[in-house]
Amino acid sequence: MRIAVMTSGGDAPGMNAAIRGVVRCAAYDDIEVFGIERGYKGLIDNELQLMSKRSVSGIIQRGGTMLMTARCPEFMQYEYRRKAAEVLTSRGIDGLVVIGGDGSFSGMRVLYEEFGIKCVGIPGTIDNDLAYTDYTLGFDTAVNTVVSAINNLRDTMSSHERVVVVQVMGRACGDIALYAGVAGGAEVILVPEHEVNFDEVARRLTINKRAGKKSAIVMLAEGACPIDTVITELRERTDLSVKSTVLGYIQRGGVPTMADRVLASRLSARAVELLAQGIGGRVVGVRNNQVIDEDVSEALAMPRRVEEDLYQLAGILSL
Ligand code: ADP
Ligand code: F6P
Repeated sequence: MRIAVMTSGGDAPGMNAAIRGVVRCAAYDDIEVFGIERGYKGLIDNELQLMSKRSVSGIIQRGGTMLMTARCPEFMQYEYRRKAAEVLTSRGIDGLVVIGGDGSFSGMRVLYEEFGIKCVGIPGTIDNDLAYTDYTLGFDTAVNTVVSAINNLRDTMSSHERVVVVQVMGRACGDIALYAGVAGGAEVILVPEHEVNFDEVARRLTINKRAGKKSAIVMLAEGACPIDTVITELRERTDLSVKSTVLGYIQRGGVPTMADRVLASRLSARAVELLAQGIGGRVVGVRNNQVIDEDVSEALAMPRRVEEDLYQLAGILSL
């Protein structure tokens, strides 16, 4: 049997651990694995190489992805997808593992539905924006990176008695802001899942200042509100010294945490197991610390919800 593996969309720490897991688990079952470089773009361009157990040595501790990744708008068109399917069948490949986010999973689903290519998805994105799984690869590492940045910012903001608005990634999902905010003791957390109320934010910051707090961290998820608006609105409503920092791509790279490496290893094992059984059209994930797999269409249709309990708790802890 032969399968292929690719990483697609934004890179995330833990993708390398997942590639390694796919290659090693497949080798254990005598399955050949081809690595596809640059996601769907590389598949269309026939950029495939046979991988060996040794070719994935020394990558579990590295962020990024050894297979590189890309965004490939052409894959939205049927003609390019047909070409991709032809590449796989011409090489005798029976299954494809796609490590990526919801966009990559949408691409995988059409490849499966249109051409019967057996595909299994592993969630790899720092955003944690896939509802069917409790965690995606890279989320834990990204949150720890943000927490470490908050620690540094806290030193400076306390010394100068300032407020800092820290913008983090996540697209339409507020999980990075929420988890990093709770772990870093942020005074305010702004997420896209909740409407931003600047009067309330200003009120909280003023109460904190009066109660003797020397600094304040406002965690801003990029999808919640433009950072310039937050700064302007807070300066209008308070006399606090408001600074800002956009963390940007710092969050996407870095040494993956234990949690991301272990998750990657467990999910890759399930992905190979499914393909070895001739099963496709599924995505793997984790729920209540159990590895699960789900139909890709059903997984993509699940509505995401912010963890309301954690969000409410953050409000209590920060006053
Ligand atoms: P992510 O997987 O991180 O969400 P993107 O949303 O950028 O990243 O998607 C990655 C790639 O998946 C896109 O560049 C495109 O090649 C493919 N893709 C996304 N949506 C679709 C779709 N609806 N149909 C076909 N391919 C898609
Ligand atoms: O999906 C991961 C992510 O880092 C998002 O959090 C962010 O909005 C986006 O990718 C940035 O994309 P790009 O790499 O194209 O700048």
